[in-house]
Amino acid sequence: MSKVALITGITGQDGAYLAEYLIKKGYQVHGIKRRSSMFNTERIDHLYQDPHEVNRNLILHYGDLTDSLNLTRIIGEIQPDEIYNLAAMSHVKVSFDTPEYTANADGLGVLRILEAVRLLKLTEKTRIYQASTSELYGLVQEVPQKETTPFYPRSPYAVAKLYGYWITVNYREAYGMHASNGILFNHESPLRGETFVTRKVTRAVARIALGIQQKVYMGNLSSKRDWGHAKDYVRAMYLILQQDEPSDYVIATGITTTIRDFIRLAFQEIGLEAEFKGEGVDEIACLSAVNESVFNQKIGEAYLESIRKRIGETLVGVDPQYFRPTEVDLLLGDATKARTILSWEPRYSLLDLIQDMMLSDVKLMKKESYLKKGGYQILNYFE
Ligand code: NAP
Ligand code: GDD
Repeated sequence: MSKVALITGITGQDGAYLAEYLIKKGYQVHGIKRRSSMFNTERIDHLYQDPHEVNRNLILHYGDLTDSLNLTRIIGEIQPDEIYNLAAMSHVKVSFDTPEYTANADGLGVLRILEAVRLLKLTEKTRIYQASTSELYGLVQEVPQKETTPFYPRSPYAVAKLYGYWITVNYREAYGMHASNGILFNHESPLRGETFVTRKVTRAVARIALGIQQKVYMGNLSSKRDWGHAKDYVRAMYLILQQDEPSDYVIATGITTTIRDFIRLAFQEIGLEAEFKGEGVDEIACLSAVNESVFNQKIGEAYLESIRKRIGETLVGVDPQYFRPTEVDLLLGDATKARTILSWEPRYSLLDLIQDMMLSDVKLMKKESYLKKGGYQILNYFE
């Protein structure tokens, strides 16, 4: 009998990688998908199986973390061995615009899952992974941050996730449930949502190189993040649920980098040097040099002449609309517990991650539909 897993948030970055990972391990994977006016299954289309096939290993259910009846019915029908609760309104800046919805989905949503498992008398059978976050550390009380570092959330998103973290701990202690938190630091990939900073940068750098975007506007360039690759991080989620004892784990690389340096490295990956000057809202980055052999190899000789002409021009500016009312300035994780107990190690370095993302976005932007000038501007406000 194969194990049965339920993934909430299966259409998201982590949900897609985790579904693929568990299917490869022989699981039957069920996913909860919100109804939307478009399919919105792009990240998992390669795993899709026709509903008429027998012995399917990927089955989708309509559902929502704000609907307890729906969640309880699905969990009752599936009787999962493992639940990975990844669904969330996951954008920190957007949570300032939608604080009540964020509290409902990201905070109470966790309670709904735990309570469904308890009411259905599945506490002995079903193990639960809660997608907690390094955003809980917020205004950091210690550097680096580990499992014992006190939390100080700095956004409606992080405050909602704080409830999710503690209600998971509480159900574990009160009802003996196998419920664990993964306190994951930022993790990125070619599947990352387009409005998170790394993907915004890799998409923009690819477009600038191809001559379909002049410049990109960013928010706070000085904040620092501990970035890993999502593929490494979904493996950690799985390992957490394979332990005999439930517990909470920090998952991080132990290296922190500014947004400014991430941008510099993304340009360097395709042979372009971005030189930063100025301060605050007046900070800019100009194109200072082109490494022609790298550029030709990664982008193509056809684009060399036009990029050469741009030396000295501004590629990056700052727009305060991307600032947050309260910022998280520095995240740096200490994953010693995960290394020791889970034998988890990241396999991707930051440069591997950037290479993977740039390769994918250059390929994507070379598609005819993206080469149409101006298309990107529609998205600009939301980035
Ligand atoms: P993501 O790409 O934004 O995916 C979020 C998923 O949740 C999507 O499938 C989304 O569905 C779904 N969702 C949102 N609201 C929902 C609702 N009310 N009911 C049901 N589903 C809903 O996020 P991610 O990067 O994969 O992150 C996965 C989880 O880990 C999230 O909980 C996030 O907060 C947490 N986390 C992420 C990171 C990171 O760096 N990536 C770090 C720490 C923790 P749609 O496709 O319909 O929008
Ligand atoms: N999104 C965005 N857009 N962020 C920008 C920009 C911009 O134009 N310019 C600068 N930043 C800065 C943000 O102010 C923040 O300090 C940093 O880049 C990272 O922003 P995001 O990529 O949006 O991620 P996040 O750190 O706020 O949140 C992500 O990681 C958390 C884990 O620490 C999300 O995935 C959360 O769901 C996750 O919990």
